[in-house]
Amino acid sequence: MNILAIETSCDETGIAVLCGEKTSYGHFFTVIADALLSQAALHTEYGGVYPTLAKREHQKNLPILLEQAAGIAPSLDTAMDAVAVTTGPGLEPALWSGITFAQALAHTWQKPLFGVNHMEGHLISSLCRRDSHIELSQRWVFEDTAFPLLALLVSGGHTQFVASDSRFSYRILGDTLDDAVGEAFDKVARMLGLSYPGGPNISRLAEIARTSSLQKSPVKLPRPMITRNTCDVSFSGLKTAALYALRNMGGIESLSEANKAAFAREFEDAVTDVLLTKTRRAMQESSAHTFVLGGGVAGNTHLRMSLARLMHEEFPRVRLQLPDPSITGDNAVMIGQAALLHLLDGDWNLAHPPIDLSAQGGLSLA
Ligand code: KG4
Ligand code: ZN
Repeated sequence: MNILAIETSCDETGIAVLCGEKTSYGHFFTVIADALLSQAALHTEYGGVYPTLAKREHQKNLPILLEQAAGIAPSLDTAMDAVAVTTGPGLEPALWSGITFAQALAHTWQKPLFGVNHMEGHLISSLCRRDSHIELSQRWVFEDTAFPLLALLVSGGHTQFVASDSRFSYRILGDTLDDAVGEAFDKVARMLGLSYPGGPNISRLAEIARTSSLQKSPVKLPRPMITRNTCDVSFSGLKTAALYALRNMGGIESLSEANKAAFAREFEDAVTDVLLTKTRRAMQESSAHTFVLGGGVAGNTHLRMSLARLMHEEFPRVRLQLPDPSITGDNAVMIGQAALLHLLDGDWNLAHPPIDLSAQGGLSLA
């Protein structure tokens, strides 16, 4: 089954063409084309994503990416069985640009159109792994999942613990009460004079402090909600504490490079401590047999290693699924994988696509 998938929920424009098959060994997804354009550099001066600029860029990029995809996978109009597009959550103007483009394609090609939840895309793609039998493989395997499953989804807009007892059924165990973890990384990065997206930049700086002889941070940041008896998190207080701490030290101008790195490390440690503690709690609450990490912040090496250690030491029987680093950020492959899984499993029917799609900025998994 062939699908063309479109992603425009934030600042990445993506079009991917995937072929999915269901076998007795599991589901396989071959990525035939993966065309992606990032607008991150354009949004740098705003320190975050500027919605109307994002919309305009998506509208400009989509035809370019479609042409690229058609160059790799010709006869798209006849070869595709369906079109899939992200309908939420995300920035509504940005989502609409993908939806209207997808609607026009589906109409012209006379193909069914399906809407995909962006967070389910992150979750499902994190459950896929590259086929190790083929070097540099574009073939992905979706292995049978041991339920119950617990997912920690961490991105620029979300920090959620999602429990699942069966495929496509979700329950939110914990959420952020204010800022998402990626947003906190981006804002603190900005305070440190680092460019957007800030997560990878803070992480690189923190790594310098981890590997250098400088051990001590100039400040101790709080670990919000860590003792609270829930799986909810909050990062707004941590962000404010970081701001005041920097001010008290006389601003970043007066901070040495070594102290800046130590500060980044302390921030990354604070975030990781909170997420580890809440993961432990969510694991106990969900009695999960599988733990999966997904979303842009899943690219964070320190978080990945810390979660791997936690699982190894305290939940050794739980299957840990960390996403391939190449697919942690937003992309259209994950949207295609999620749509194909729904279709191959018979949860969606090619003959009965949804009547109409609309952008839902606050779309939730449950
Ligand atoms: O999932 P994603 O690509 O877009 C959204 O759906 O929001 O996540 C983007 C977020 C940004 O906030 C970015 O700073 C963060 O993921 N991020 C990271 C890392 N790579 C990306 N945060 C921490 N460490 C990283 N290595
Ligand atoms: Zn995302």
